[in-house]
Amino acid sequence: NEIYLAGLGGARPGLPTDLHRLEEAARQGLPEQAFGYVAGAAGSESTARANLAVFDQWKIVPRMLRDVGSRDLGTTVLGTAMPAPVVLGPVGVLRILHPEGELAVARAAAALGVTMTLSTASSTAMEEVAAEAGPRWYQLYWPKDRELAASLIGRAADSGFTALVVTLDTFTLAWRPRDLDQAYLPFLQGIGVQNYFSDPVFQKAIGGPVTDANRDLALLHWVANFGNPTLTWDDLAWLREQWDGPIVLKGIQHPEDARRAVDAGMDGIVVSNHGGRQVNGAIAALDALPAIASAVGGETTVLFDSGIRSGADILKALALGAQAVMIGRPYAYALGLGGEEGVRHVLRCLMADLDLTMALSGHSTLADITPALLSR
Ligand code: FNR
Repeated sequence: NEIYLAGLGGARPGLPTDLHRLEEAARQGLPEQAFGYVAGAAGSESTARANLAVFDQWKIVPRMLRDVGSRDLGTTVLGTAMPAPVVLGPVGVLRILHPEGELAVARAAAALGVTMTLSTASSTAMEEVAAEAGPRWYQLYWPKDRELAASLIGRAADSGFTALVVTLDTFTLAWRPRDLDQAYLPFLQGIGVQNYFSDPVFQKAIGGPVTDANRDLALLHWVANFGNPTLTWDDLAWLREQWDGPIVLKGIQHPEDARRAVDAGMDGIVVSNHGGRQVNGAIAALDALPAIASAVGGETTVLFDSGIRSGADILKALALGAQAVMIGRPYAYALGLGGEEGVRHVLRCLMADLDLTMALSGHSTLADITPALLSR
């Protein structure tokens, strides 16, 4: 009501309420490097486009006269209570977009009780983010060095992150022409990946704390070591020993990998292609969801990202088997354009849009949402 009445009354919000228009505003309003960092994807970016287009292949079939006067979007995922099935997904180096970076995002999410997933590639140390955050999960880029991995995981547990989201699809950066065409390292130098730079094991590897004198070395060490291409399913047993809480594997696109995740004792998966940033030509994420949900949906927590831009998108992903969705680019653009307030705006718009779309299509709780509400 607040958003709607303000809009109807002529109090236009500072940022667009439609998230496609928000991207356009970011294209106009952000420095080229910052916009390109967020918008970019692998190769010709055809998978990134397909992630969005695929939502139009599914249509909601609204139902009438079902008493939707009182609605509840609340849910609990991996032990975390949520006001709506919406989680901020991990996005690295957020200070590229705004000087307050991850801290602004943490404050915006905390104000709404929304769960934030902090990237390992955070430009703020995780302890500083935790001090300002509400419900929080930690995303792990599993580095080559096990001692470093154990250190990052231990710090996350000590900082009150309650679930570990392990990203499998990015053990190295993909062929991303927009990144390749930009001079990012000088840009990153001034920002730094403080979450690594503040780590005692990372510091040991580069011979001491990060200073102006060894900043280049620190960045190169980070780039060379953040991922490990030799990992296999057998390595998950080690991870399980390191972390007592739920573990979620992010980047699952094949039903057999979903099955292996369950068999390996993982607590959930994120069906995701990293917003099309890794394998160009890969299956659109929403196209991967139904088969995965039918393979493991009853046995594990299924989350989804890559392409969510509206309440209808969220409803479709839930109907196809996700328990909650993660948001990526939209909140990064909003951070760049409007800082903490911008991120809050995007979350409020998405939750309000989901509430209205659910109600107008005849659903008052998440339990009412089934594949039957969609037609292809
Ligand atoms: C990402 N993503 C990501 N994922 C992750 O596990 N760790 C990370 O550090 C990052 N960093 C990152 C930076 C930027 C700029 C983007 C756009 C994305 C992927 C992210 O979590 C999510 O999977 C995608 O953003 C989903 O796609 P859409 O919805 O943004 O199109």
